[in-house]
Amino acid sequence: MRKKIVAGNWKMNTDYAEGISLFSEIVNIVRDEKKGDQIAVICAPFIHLNSLSKLGGDTVKIGAQNCHQNESGAFTGEISAKMIKSVGCEYVIIGHSERRQYFAESDALLAEKTKIALAHGLIPLFCIGETLDERNNGNFFEILKGQLENGVFGLDEADFAKVVIAYEPVWAIGTGLTATAEQAQEVHAFIRSELVYRYGEEVAEDTSILYGGSCNPKNAAELFAQKDIDGGLIGGASLKSRDFADIVKTFNA
Ligand code: PGA
Repeated sequence: MRKKIVAGNWKMNTDYAEGISLFSEIVNIVRDEKKGDQIAVICAPFIHLNSLSKLGGDTVKIGAQNCHQNESGAFTGEISAKMIKSVGCEYVIIGHSERRQYFAESDALLAEKTKIALAHGLIPLFCIGETLDERNNGNFFEILKGQLENGVFGLDEADFAKVVIAYEPVWAIGTGLTATAEQAQEVHAFIRSELVYRYGEEVAEDTSILYGGSCNPKNAAELFAQKDIDGGLIGGASLKSRDFADIVKTFNA
């Protein structure tokens, strides 16, 4: 059975004190109000992670937003997968469109990052998504397929089975423009069909595919009700404890 996951991505927001306070609020609300086996995750700035992992327990898991592709060494300013794991993180976002766009992260680089994250026991939240131009040109299925093939399809089956995919249309991130439930479901079904083709029915059925892009407490229920949508990657709304918790509660039985 695939897991239902709601993961927050705080991006470069909150100083240390704000992060601790926001996270504590989220943990308290989720602990009191979550009913079900959905998993709540917060992907916070690096400097918060050590402290947050001690506060969240099993209620809210912790993730990083990026990692370096090398094991260790002379890479000034970078953070390794091993370091992230060592402070109690379970997840790491790989290939967010902002990393692809502003830091020129290629599919080949992201494939390396995914491998090293897995080697250190982290669960990659691997992001794919098309730009507005690509959607309007109508070639977005090809784009998404390429991102999967070059980013994660080099993994063997056992490794791929640990990966979570996040579909985030770039045109919907932080814009208030959400993909409609039909648009999102269409792409999620396409992604799952590509997983069937590469890894077979069983692995494809067990892979969680999250939707991201202006997901909020109002639209989450309709999105998450779609057959191939297993949760969300939440940016802006994860910076408000009530909103994030309400999105988590969408999966309450
Ligand atoms: P958003 O961001 O929810 O603010 O659109 C989503 C993301 O970038 O992961």
